[in-house]
This record gives sequence, structure tokens and C-alpha cells, in this order.
Amino acid sequence: MIEIENLTKRFGDRTVLDDISLSVGTGEILAVVGPSGAGKSTLSRCVSFLERPSSGTVRVDGKDFTRLEGAELIAARRSVGVIFQSAPLLRRRTVAQNVALPLEYLNATDASVDKRVTELLDRVGLSDRRDFFPAQLSGGQKQRVGIARALALGPSNVLSDEATAGLDPTTTKSILALLSHLRDEYGLSLILITHEMEVVREIADSVARLDDGRIIENGSVEDIILDPTSALAHELLPDRPNVPVSDAGEIWEVSYASRQVPLDWLTSIQNAPGIAGAQVSVLSASVEAIRGIAVGRAVLAISSSAPTGFKDYLTDRGLHVRVADAAQQEVAA
Ligand SMILES: Nc1ncnc2c1ncn2[C@@H]1O[C@H](COP(=O)(O)OP(=O)(O)OP(=O)(O)O)[C@@H](O)[C@H]1O
Ligand SMILES: [Mg+2]
Repeated sequence: MIEIENLTKRFGDRTVLDDISLSVGTGEILAVVGPSGAGKSTLSRCVSFLERPSSGTVRVDGKDFTRLEGAELIAARRSVGVIFQSAPLLRRRTVAQNVALPLEYLNATDASVDKRVTELLDRVGLSDRRDFFPAQLSGGQKQRVGIARALALGPSNVLSDEATAGLDPTTTKSILALLSHLRDEYGLSLILITHEMEVVREIADSVARLDDGRIIENGSVEDIILDPTSALAHELLPDRPNVPVSDAGEIWEVSYASRQVPLDWLTSIQNAPGIAGAQVSVLSASVEAIRGIAVGRAVLAISSSAPTGFKDYLTDRGLHVRVADAAQQEVAA
């Protein structure tokens, strides 16, 4: 469990993190998203005790670590495993020797280190690569070594800063599935720092959006995506299709995130009141489920004689309609 309270970090007279409060419970995954320079990595370094906050507290498993020094601090760091971007591995060491690195400082016997490394490599699916060198691994495999190394000391918390950045979509999915699986197996609390919405869609329980050192939005993924006023919810919708330019009528973008929207809304459009005389074509549509909630986006071309009341028909069904004209005017929120 990690509880961050009123955390502020200044470099000189620049405030890089401003009064951040966030927490992640046992077995939970929190994604922290935000643009470049928002302060994500600084937050990560404050939580992994590589950087001391200017004020505020970071409590890990109930203990306030912000005031610890020396040996106490070193011991405290063991309860937070850290996964870095593109897993910085030692080139001249094998996979097994890289994973063993944190264990070597513990005066453990060779046999017990070997047993632990074997177990960790099995967990991350790399048993058959133990004697390979980093140069012989794919990006995803290197990241698995980084994950095994982060878990070597049996932390109850894991912090990852851009663990999937630079990986292809399939590899990203498999790394996220592994993290989710490890969370279940060890009851880990995970903070995943990322600029990829994919991470939020795939595995996060809660999400915080950081911008310019401040938290702009924060909540459970479920609450966020069901909130029609949330900018983050809009980013979590399936990718926006290219809307073609059309002079015949209007292009409408219809989106939703709900448990209530009837799954046949698209086909039932034909029966909307007064629709008979109008032309409605579906240019694109995509639907996916996030935490069991259907989220979707469709682009409709509506003939110039779109019946009055058709927008109401859609909004009554929990759909949000934007007319995708030049002004991007929002007709219904
Ligand atoms: N040691 C430092 N001294 C001074 N300024 C720093 C230091 N570390 C970070 N900063 C500043 O803090 C701000 C946030 O940086 P940070 O690396 O936390 O952003 P980020 O959200 O991780 O960005 P990215 O997505 O590009 O990784 C930046 O403007 C950066 O210049
Ligand atoms: Mg960063």
C-alpha cells in the first residue's frame, strides 16, 4: 500500500510537483498519466526514495519513509520494486545474473540465490533464457528480466516508470498481462507511470492525470469513464476515426461509456422517430469494454434533412453527440 499526501517537490524556485495526494491499496493498480514534463518521473523518484520530497509524506505499508536515513532508508527501499523504461541490464551478465543482482547484497547463499532466480524466471516466462545475454533478447524479454529483478527482494509494492514505452502493441499487451497476473499472485500494489492510454484501458483500477505538477483528474477508472464531463474519459474511448470531409449533410460523432446503452443502438437508429426520410450512414464504429463497461465511438453521416428530435433520440439513450463540423461545435454534452 502506498499513500502519498500533500507531496510537493521543488528544484530551486521551480515547483515540479504541487500538493499531490494519491493512494494505491493492496492488490490495486494505479496508472499515472500526463504529458511530457508533467512531473511523472519526479513523482516516481519521490516514491522510490531516490529523491526527497520538499514537503509532504510518502507512506509505504503504513510507514512514513520520508524521514528515514541511511540503513533504515536502504531497508525501506526493498518494499518498493522499481521497473525502469527499457530495463537497463548489465551487458556482461546473463539473464540469471542480472536478476540475481539485488540478492547479492543480502549475503544469501549461492544455492538460495539460484533457487530464487529460477522461481522468478519461471514467473516471468524466461526459464529457457537464463543463460542468454541482454543483447540476445527482444525488448519485451528485456523488460521481463527487469520485472523479475524488481521482484527479487519480494516487495509488496511495484513502481514502474514507462515500462512499456517503445514496445510494439502485442508486446505491450503481454507485459501488461504479466503485471496484472503478478499483482493477483503476490497481492502487489502497483503504480504504473505512463503516457499510454492503453495501460489505463488494459489493467488500471484507478487513474490520475498529472499536468504541470498538479493532479487534474483522479478516480477509479469506472467512475472516470462514466463521467461525461471528463476529458480523460474522452481520451479513453476507442481511437478517433478519421472523419471524412463531406458537403452533403453533417458528420456526427456519437460516443458513449455506459452500462445502460442498448447494444443494438446502432441498428435501432433506423426506427428512430421521423428518421424514415433521412439518410444515415455509419462511416465507422468501434466498441470495446473497459472494466466491464461498454465504451464506443461511431461516426455517422446524416443527410441535410436530419429530422429534428434525432439528437434527442440519441441523447435519451445515453449517447453523446458532437457535430464534427469545422467549428467542432458540441451539440449535446
Ligand atoms: N533534477 C532536476 N532539476 C531540475 N529540474 C528537474 C529535475 N528533474 C526534473 N526536473 C524538471 O521537472 C519537470 C518534470 O520532469 P519529469 O521528468 O518528472 O517529467 P515527466 O512527466 O516524467 O516527463 P516525460 O513524460 O518526458 O518522461 C521538467 O520540467 C524537468 O525539467
Ligand atoms: Mg518521465
